[in-house]
Amino acid sequence: MADLDERGMAATVEAIRSRGGEALAVRADVSDLAQVQALADRAFGAFGRVHILCNNAGVAVWGGLESATHRDWQWVLGVNLWGVIHGLQAFLPRMIAQGEGGHILNTASMAGLVASQGLGVYNTSKYAVVGLSETLAKDLRPYGIGVSVLCPMGVATQIRASERNRPPALRNEAPGGAEPVDLMGRTLAPETVAAMAIAAIRENRLYVITHEEGLEPLRRRYQRLEQAVLSEKT
Ligand SMILES: NC(=O)c1ccc[n+]([C@@H]2O[C@H](COP(=O)([O-])OP(=O)(O)OC[C@H]3O[C@@H](n4cnc5c(N)ncnc54)[C@H](O)[C@@H]3O)[C@@H](O)[C@H]2O)c1
Repeated sequence: MADLDERGMAATVEAIRSRGGEALAVRADVSDLAQVQALADRAFGAFGRVHILCNNAGVAVWGGLESATHRDWQWVLGVNLWGVIHGLQAFLPRMIAQGEGGHILNTASMAGLVASQGLGVYNTSKYAVVGLSETLAKDLRPYGIGVSVLCPMGVATQIRASERNRPPALRNEAPGGAEPVDLMGRTLAPETVAAMAIAAIRENRLYVITHEEGLEPLRRRYQRLEQAVLSEKT
């Protein structure tokens, strides 16, 4: 596992080991390719092979796009989009060379399928992760490497305190961005979402849509797209 949070990782490693598993924790900033490549070297060095890659790290900023700063864009896209790209660049060539198949799980969000107001920078990053994952699933089929894209709504994590992970160089000069908006729908426990993600990997399902509350917004989006096509029909 990789994260910026070394204490959090130590607790997770301990939990895995106490149940008889093996784990390796490596501090890595996923927005930095060199650090993710060093992580891949450590992982392949320790375990010899990697079959499942989860690109999960993510951060959020809230507020209208008209007030998003250049640093907001750099930080959120750096972690949420470049983090996934770096994961692929560092791990995928060796996973393909192993010739044993595998699976890649990218964490996007319902915000990668439906664009909520006041979440534009985050939406942009997550739409990109959905597009990347949909294409990746097609591209990797010949190698027996499956792809899933995890698209939750609310999950009870620390995402609303994302600023804790913001590097000083990317903090806004004038503090006081918008407060996190309340999300519609249920807030699921991380364990519930993790179980759905594991089942999707086992069953090689592309979309992992954790909240049935997402169905109506998804339908409305599809209907707007359908209407746009029909209204152009000659
Ligand atoms: N919680 C939700 O409601 C929700 C909903 C949809 C999608 N997501 C997505 O789930 C994923 C996990 O987030 P979470 O909800 O567990 O939030 P979280 O803040 O609890 O966890 C995010 C983790 O990413 C790590 N991280 C942040 N920046 C990093 C960086 N540059 N390099 C390495 N690690 C970094 C943090 O230390 C933290 O451990 C994210 O991609 C997020 O966008 C969350």
